[in-house]
Amino acid sequence: MTDWVAEDSQYLFQNYGRQPIVMDRGEGTRVWDVDGKEYLDFVGGLAVNVLGHAHPIVAQAVAEQAATLIHTSNLYYTKPMIELAKLLVENSCLDRVFFCNSGTEAIEAAIKLARRWGHDTKNGAYEVIAALDGFHGRTMGALAATGTERYREPFAPLAPGFAHVPWNDLDAIKAATTDRTVAVLLEPIQGEAGVNMPAEGYLRGVRDWCDEKGLLLILDEIQTGNGRTGTLWAYEQEGIEPDIMAVAKGLAGGVPIGAILAREEVAAHLVKGDHGTTFGANPLATATGLATMRHIIENKLPAQAARAADRFTTRLRSLEDRLEVVNEVRGRGLLLAIGFNRDCATDVLDACRRRGLLVNNPRPNTIRFMPPLNVTDDEIDRASDILEAAIIEATSTAAK
Ligand SMILES: Cc1ncc(COP(=O)(O)O)c(C=O)c1O
Repeated sequence: MTDWVAEDSQYLFQNYGRQPIVMDRGEGTRVWDVDGKEYLDFVGGLAVNVLGHAHPIVAQAVAEQAATLIHTSNLYYTKPMIELAKLLVENSCLDRVFFCNSGTEAIEAAIKLARRWGHDTKNGAYEVIAALDGFHGRTMGALAATGTERYREPFAPLAPGFAHVPWNDLDAIKAATTDRTVAVLLEPIQGEAGVNMPAEGYLRGVRDWCDEKGLLLILDEIQTGNGRTGTLWAYEQEGIEPDIMAVAKGLAGGVPIGAILAREEVAAHLVKGDHGTTFGANPLATATGLATMRHIIENKLPAQAARAADRFTTRLRSLEDRLEVVNEVRGRGLLLAIGFNRDCATDVLDACRRRGLLVNNPRPNTIRFMPPLNVTDDEIDRASDILEAAIIEATSTAAK
């Protein structure tokens, strides 16, 4: 039998810390490895599989579009890109869409758009203020925007024009603002940092400051978007509207895609020849995005996710009450995390996996959950039971 892990270590770059599972197939919230072992998948491809695995809507869209027209380049128009852009505009506060292929590319486009706008309207202002611990991607512009030193340091020098300030500190944003500043870039919830919530009124305060100073507010909704937090976009729950929004991950249910949306007055500054990508707006990705997003919107999946989140949060809080090692439950919608009072997340993750539950550990003391929006009550209950047993096994925690 092929030893896939050994072959990976021979042929692929070893830049990922993969779990020792060779995934074979999936259905809904369940996946099976090549040995036939079944898992409940509460990682969801890192918030990508919004409809779960092998959803018929996604599978059909891929199959039909693949048999019709996979790729044309941006030298031509296609229907799916226009229909998906229209759907996104009609279901957001923004006016125009640019498509690319990943989250990091969406951030690159947002940075270029902000700089172009600053070049044209703000005496060449170019600096972007972003948050420490934020995560915006791995390409050089997005990495320069990312406020996490361990991702940045080995790749210096990074692009200039970024200032980083502590998360949830509006005064620090004010203090960092100069006449070079063009935009503030934030995640509505810091996902990769371990699901760090915005303080009440923080994002409202940032929006007001941007209005006062004539700065663009760029929201990175790559992880929080597409219904994950209980509304289609996380900004809706903050009572604010961004000028530019970056989206990706779940937008096409698992087919690679990214996009920025922007207000008309801002989008107008990116003119012919300023930016582009060969695969962007690719018919396969946009047709699948159209089917996925239509399904999410028409079936009110964000509200369904919010109800599922209530059930899951109640179960997680009961662990917080009963297990000494669990000291926090964070998140909104189906972007949730539990914090431990010690660095036991890897041990808990391993115990979960052995018991058939996949979770993620963005920090040594944090486990994160991003199941599909259509996760069932029964799956939440089973995952909660496995999690509790795994925490007890991994930490030998006595009940409180
Ligand atoms: C908030 C946020 N921004 C940007 C990215 C980068 O997206 P991608 O990995 O598709 O380049 C991620 C990925 O996790 C993310 O969570």
